[in-house]
Amino acid sequence: MPLVSSKELLQAALEGHYALGAFNANNMEQVQGIVDAAVEERAPVILQVSQGAIRYAGLEFATAMVRAAATEANVPVVLHLDHGTDFEQNVRCLRAGFTSLMYDGSKKPYEENVRITARVVEIAHYCNIPVEAELGQVLQSADGVTEQDVIHAMTDPDQAADFVARTGCDSLAVAIGSVHAMAEAAAELDIERLKRIQARVKIPMVLHGSSGVKEESEVEAIQYGIAKINVATMLNQAFVRGLMKAQAESPDNTDPRKWLIQSREAVKEVVRHKIRLFGASGMVQNGHLVSPKTVHRGASLGGLEA
Ligand code: G3H
Ligand code: ZN
Repeated sequence: MPLVSSKELLQAALEGHYALGAFNANNMEQVQGIVDAAVEERAPVILQVSQGAIRYAGLEFATAMVRAAATEANVPVVLHLDHGTDFEQNVRCLRAGFTSLMYDGSKKPYEENVRITARVVEIAHYCNIPVEAELGQVLQSADGVTEQDVIHAMTDPDQAADFVARTGCDSLAVAIGSVHAMAEAAAELDIERLKRIQARVKIPMVLHGSSGVKEESEVEAIQYGIAKINVATMLNQAFVRGLMKAQAESPDNTDPRKWLIQSREAVKEVVRHKIRLFGASGMVQNGHLVSPKTVHRGASLGGLEA
């Protein structure tokens, strides 16, 4: 089916107490692994490309790959810009046909973040495309962050309410204890802070840096307004693991497809696992989203046994 907007999908996830997996892709095998898993799980899915992925694959290629995968799929697929750190990048992606944007002004002073986010929202809404914004900062593990840095960068609940009201953003990435690109799932989220933000912010919230978060903590966060969970590092790890295993098994192989097929499978398995964990499995029936009113179960660790 054609690419769809993230707006209604995130609202349905929020109301149904599950989360959409937003999976980062850099190449064809990752795109295919992600969409294959979503189709098998009958789950709506967000495929997102970062500015780094766009630099690597090229905007036209990245867009065409995701669009082709969506066309073949019988579940809703969103093409989302992840961490668009400038206005121009958002405009380019809007023109290219992205169905969801992110303006990330989290490193900028507050008023500047408000001003540019509002500007991106204004033009995106002319085209009926929703915008995710970020307040507080989800830091990068490569920058050698301390626990104090993470606490200091967390989202302020009162400021979040002001930010959403003034920018009109459709979803909000919050900093509640996760750090981007951690190699292991060791972090616990500040759920009490999330509850305080949820009391003031009624739009879907987004968890970044999920590869470094304990699964129990992810599941708990979904109960308090997290409706989109970004997964990147874990998929790259799976991709490389699959490749290395294939290489070790057949070191004399010269056909890259024979190795890459294992990478694609490894990515698919991680995506399946996360979709189930987030409670999004089975949320599409006959190509349509199940109504939030008929959803009686949300995310749970028990969902993994399904
Ligand atoms: O925007 C992408 C994500 O926040 C992914 O974070 O690489 O830690 O999974 P991760
Ligand atoms: Zn992120």
